[in-house]
Amino acid sequence: MKQGTIYTSSREETLALATRFAHALHGGEIIFLRGPIGAGKTVFVKGIAAALGLKSSPTSASFSLMKKYHNKKHRLFHIDLFRLSAGEVFNLGFEEMLEDEEAIILAEWPDPIAHMLPSDRLEMDFILRQGDEREIKLSSFGRISDILLEDLCKQAKTSL
Ligand SMILES: Nc1ncnc2c1ncn2[C@@H]1O[C@H](COP(=O)(O)OP(=O)(O)OP(=O)(O)O)[C@@H](O)[C@H]1O
Ligand SMILES: [Mg+2]
Repeated sequence: MKQGTIYTSSREETLALATRFAHALHGGEIIFLRGPIGAGKTVFVKGIAAALGLKSSPTSASFSLMKKYHNKKHRLFHIDLFRLSAGEVFNLGFEEMLEDEEAIILAEWPDPIAHMLPSDRLEMDFILRQGDEREIKLSSFGRISDILLEDLCKQAKTSL
């Protein structure tokens, strides 16, 4: 396991971080996004999708817990399981995502499906600080996520 901390002081800085992060993604990465409401998890995901030039593809209207973004090069699944419990995530359409080993998975409030995913994942903990300041704690749990963490911390305002 590797750990690091990154600080951003505005929405724009979190978007810039997401842009740098996006360039380190090849497919097959799993990122858990933790932290309270309004911490910046979705801002980070949208920054990644924009940086990769991804378009949102329609998902069924009954399934707003998962958004799929894709282009020729990448597939990205953004899920948000706020207030769901593990018992409520069956038959919700996650099969496509779980079978796609080359997809990038970004999961807010991931606990209900954490046990279904490979253990190699990057965990990002968004912590609210003064005003627009955010502290983002990173922990990696395997070879793929170790590389991501190092890439992400390299150029950011960081302490490893
Ligand atoms: N440093 C920052 N990084 C990201 N967002 C920031 C920052 N400072 C202020 N913000 C603002 O905080 C809000 C973050 O909202 P966002 O939807 O990303 O939160 P979230 O963590 O996804 O919350 P939820 O758990 O409800 O999904 C936005 O309104 C954004 O403009
Ligand atoms: Mg969100």
